[in-house]
Amino acid sequence: MGIGPGDEVITVPNTFIATAEAITAVGARPVFVDVDRVSYTMDPQLIEAAITPHTKALLPVHLYGQSADLEPILAVARRHNLHVVEDACQAHGATYHGRRVGTFGAAGCFSFYPGKNLGCLGEGGAVVTDDPELARRMRMLRDHGSIKKYEHSIPGYNFRLEGLQGGFLSVKLPHLDSWNARRRAVAQRYRELLADASICLPAEMGWGEHIYHLYVIQADDREALRQALSAAGIETGLHYPVPLHLQAAYASLGYDKGAFPASEHLASHILSLPMHPYMTDAEIARVASVVLESLECQTTATK
Ligand SMILES: Cc1ncc(COP(=O)(O)O)c(C=O)c1O
Repeated sequence: MGIGPGDEVITVPNTFIATAEAITAVGARPVFVDVDRVSYTMDPQLIEAAITPHTKALLPVHLYGQSADLEPILAVARRHNLHVVEDACQAHGATYHGRRVGTFGAAGCFSFYPGKNLGCLGEGGAVVTDDPELARRMRMLRDHGSIKKYEHSIPGYNFRLEGLQGGFLSVKLPHLDSWNARRRAVAQRYRELLADASICLPAEMGWGEHIYHLYVIQADDREALRQALSAAGIETGLHYPVPLHLQAAYASLGYDKGAFPASEHLASHILSLPMHPYMTDAEIARVASVVLESLECQTTATK
């Protein structure tokens, strides 16, 4: 897109660092806006205040498998003549008003890291676009700046997807929708079993279908819950424990603690429970019962 040094791209601080690395990799500056506390995705109300004459693009993240609220984000982009690039790395097959994410912005980015809803058996990723010129340029960039062998129009990279990984992905792709449906069923079962628990369950926003790349709850005493689950042999994750504006890698951006209260609150309260399409009903019930038991003990201990 011709974005480079001197340009700014607006994104969120509660995401995997790769979102911001894509910006710094081209020499541009990530500018963060906080997320909405319910959807965990970019708060469209905050974007306009972060726009400067240097802003070139918006980079919303469809976090944990749920779409960001794209309509108001796209409206801001239209008003200010900005590109929109979607980070759909956690949202293969998620929808926004019935349409799959990754297809709204000028480009949509997918990761095929093995743990993703569509993962290969090594490293891989893809960008989708309906802009033929952008597609042509990206094809060149991924292959040493070349469309025709040994003729290099621009300096590029070796970013080709390995053929073997492409083969694995072709076999797995037809199963994506049924795996996502099972993830949604696992989430529904968690929702039923944990309905009365004193934790915050993931909200399904009315604007689309969540495909539960991760099942992220919030707990007041996250560490006690995490330890109880670990003691029962149940692994959990933190996605993510340190928001990007507080990472050492981005200290030079000059953000202080307190700059993004919603992201910081989430970082200290979130906990990812086991979530994958092969979970059995018995496994879901066991995770839920350890969660409930731990919360019960915590309440008794504080009485
Ligand atoms: C939100 C998000 N963006 C970008 C990436 C980067 O993908 P990759 O690991 O394939 O580089 C990931 C996953 O790793 C991610 O979760």
